[in-house]
Amino acid sequence: MKLHITVLPGDGIGPEVTREAVRCLRAVAEIHGCEFAFTERLIGGAAIEQTGTPLPVETLDACLASDAVLLGAVGAPAFDQLAPHARPEAGLLTLRRALSGYANLRPVVSYESIADCSPLRAEIIAGADVLIVRELLGGLYFGEPRGFTDEAHTESCNTMRYTVAEIERVAHIAFQAAQRRRGKVTSVDKANVLETSQLWRQTVTRVAQDYPQVTLEHQYVDACAMHLMLRPQAFDVILTENLFGDILSDEAAVIAGSLGLLASATVGGAVDLYEPVHGSAPDIAGRGVANPCGAIASAALMLRHTARLEAAAEDIEAALQQVLDAGQRTADLQRGSAQASICTDEFGALVVEALAEIADRRHAYHAV
Ligand code: IPM
Ligand code: MG
Repeated sequence: MKLHITVLPGDGIGPEVTREAVRCLRAVAEIHGCEFAFTERLIGGAAIEQTGTPLPVETLDACLASDAVLLGAVGAPAFDQLAPHARPEAGLLTLRRALSGYANLRPVVSYESIADCSPLRAEIIAGADVLIVRELLGGLYFGEPRGFTDEAHTESCNTMRYTVAEIERVAHIAFQAAQRRRGKVTSVDKANVLETSQLWRQTVTRVAQDYPQVTLEHQYVDACAMHLMLRPQAFDVILTENLFGDILSDEAAVIAGSLGLLASATVGGAVDLYEPVHGSAPDIAGRGVANPCGAIASAALMLRHTARLEAAAEDIEAALQQVLDAGQRTADLQRGSAQASICTDEFGALVVEALAEIADRRHAYHAV
């Protein structure tokens, strides 16, 4: 099987972390005897600099012609003054819409060996394992009308809009995920204020009838933000709209210990899109110190959801955990310990080594 992957390194730390993810995928290809073809293209600020647009046609065409897209990050301070449609982020949003994946899966797990990286107490986060299912193509990100309403820019508007069909399709993804996990969905909205949230709640409640084995609860987004920090172990799958999911997933990084750890998969559309949850981190870009875990774990999600190579996905996840368990940490995971932190490429090299060890152990086991 050959998987065609378009790699979009993008801005800031994007190129540094995607390089390590690609390296791990190459290692996995050798171990598992699969074939990946990588095509690299421009997006975001890097694309604006070279072509004048954040999503060049060649990039979009390459993405649409591939099996999956692996993206690093977009956004750079140099472009902050541009109009919304010209900014690096606009390239990503247009890409998301064109690839048409509507369910963005963001797993958040607390690993024991880095529990000290979270400011939350160890007993609060122990065993926490949450999957945020974020609706990715609707809500305020795409609703019309939008924009500045007058020439002088004294007023502006955005529109939050959802249809029943948009809510249903992402709700099914969340319930199906819960069936494979611990059987609970927490649907998050602001139904005490917003009509879109009332529609969200009614629709999710109806979809839940198709999944009698799954327990459904509803929380307001403000309360959820608090409960997530107080009792993360109480959550299994969180289902929510686009902006709430954006905010809650960054917050949930506190449970894992660093935003640099979180991966995401966007599924349901024509081409699946994989991107770490973190942004371009311009403050540390180009120094080789970024945490590649989120990008590498996104590659693992690609193997699971697009390539259907579950064993290979598990190998990458096990390798990441082995490196973290061995006490190896990038700078974002340093918490006053005396041990020096390692660089992005050193971390990637250790994951590749761990992958080889895991494969050797498997062979040894089968040989017995
Ligand atoms: C994310 C990011 C993006 C978003 C930005 C870069 C447009 O914050 O993937 O969480 O808001 O969706
Ligand atoms: Mg975000």
